[in-house]
Amino acid sequence: MNDAVIYQTLPQKQSRPIDTRRAVDLSVKTWFSIAALGHAIFFFYILAVFYPPIAESGFYGLKGMHLPAGFREGDTLGNLAAVSHVLLAAIVIGGGPLQLIPVVRQRAPRFHRILGRSYLLAAVISSIGGLYMTWTRHSIGNLVSQITITIDGVLILVFAFLAVRTAMGRRLGEHRRWALRLFMAGSAVWFFRVALMGWAMLTGGVGIDWESFTGPFLYALGFGQYLLPLLMLEWYFHCQKRETGSGAQLAFIGTLLPLTVFMAIGIFAATMGMWLPRM
Ligand code: HEM
Repeated sequence: MNDAVIYQTLPQKQSRPIDTRRAVDLSVKTWFSIAALGHAIFFFYILAVFYPPIAESGFYGLKGMHLPAGFREGDTLGNLAAVSHVLLAAIVIGGGPLQLIPVVRQRAPRFHRILGRSYLLAAVISSIGGLYMTWTRHSIGNLVSQITITIDGVLILVFAFLAVRTAMGRRLGEHRRWALRLFMAGSAVWFFRVALMGWAMLTGGVGIDWESFTGPFLYALGFGQYLLPLLMLEWYFHCQKRETGSGAQLAFIGTLLPLTVFMAIGIFAATMGMWLPRM
């Protein structure tokens, strides 16, 4: 046997192409695990800061707290909006990630259905309360912040309606996509806090006037809090399609990874600088 024949009979090392679809799934799972942890911290913050004073004193529980739009003497409807807003926020922030964990869906389908309905109702009522507070009480920021958060409230209502309609029509693929869009819009206020604190920690607050809570960074974040997560979600849907090439999938991973690192920094900064000190 000459050398060439010996070489051909040896087991050849296969050059396997990278499985980019699995890499996309792994990057999304990593993103989700960190986001779920950050949601859990915000959830416990809401429980610890708002539930005890409201349980003890009702509307008056919000008096003197860090919420400029939280309590007004004599404004029963506005106070009801504020109290229901912060109480239901716990279901939106705590329930959203739980709904997306496959093992919960598979092992506890009844819980998944009940939580799904509670999440939807909480997101809708909380948004209506938020819209009412935004336009009847003066909070921090200016007209730009009022408009950008209003768009989020409207998106939540529209996505909730479409998630219900597709579920009732048993169009499950479409339902999944609208439910995920609802999750992104429902968590926009969480993205806002995390990105704000992450940015403040990394740059010292470039583009932010803390006195008036205005400035170019806050205007960009006002829109970015839901546009960026929704854009990434649509890109993820695209990456899941059979015909999508590995170039688009690698570009998605290359974009999601730095965003995930920034999100992790933001969660740390929001926990240490905003949530823990108030608990
Ligand atoms: C559905 C998702 C939402 C959640 C989970 C949520 C959560 C919260 C939380 C926890 C607070 C208390 C502030 C803090 O301690 O961080 C708050 C305040 C507030 N939210 Fe929301 N929110 C949501 C959506 C909205 C929307 C869509 C609007 C307006 C359209 C809105 C308007 C407000 C206003 C005006 C305040 C009072 C701020 C102040 O007193 O200055 N929220 N929200």
